[in-house]
Amino acid sequence: MSIHVVFVCLGNICRSPMAEGIFQHLVQEAGLENKISSDSCGTSSYHVGDQPHRGTQRVLKKKKIRYEHRSRQLSDKDLATADYLIAMDGSNLDGIHKRGGTKAATALLLPYAAEAHVREVRDVPDPYYVGRFEDVYDLVESGCKGLLAHIREEHGI
Ligand code: 4NP
Repeated sequence: MSIHVVFVCLGNICRSPMAEGIFQHLVQEAGLENKISSDSCGTSSYHVGDQPHRGTQRVLKKKKIRYEHRSRQLSDKDLATADYLIAMDGSNLDGIHKRGGTKAATALLLPYAAEAHVREVRDVPDPYYVGRFEDVYDLVESGCKGLLAHIREEHGI
């Protein structure tokens, strides 16, 4: 049984797919793909079935990260199967807490970052409204690196 990580944002087209793509890439680089699996979803149903936002696709491609996904909404299955539910911002975190009924460790992404200046940001800004996908990438990458280190430490892998 692998450790299952689910990234959560609002629309599941900008931030959480970016986080999942980066995290999967880091897991593969570490040779841990048999031990850690990941997915992403949104608290809303606004974009269910859609591909990641063009900005997210573009920045992942630029970083040579292969990633395919269709937006889907947070489900009971996520709550039941996730070991870690990782929210992009405080509002997403509230959405998960309101659903309740999960055994998963539920937390924001950026407080896992190694760099203090990233931890202080706390909420991943939503590029759907403000663009700046590359800046968001840097924040999310830093958070994902710290999250993976945390999971490895917690599970001794
Ligand atoms: P995401 O960004 O939560 O990072 O995927 C958003 C995508 C869509 C909307 C809001 C945020 N929307 O309102 O449609």
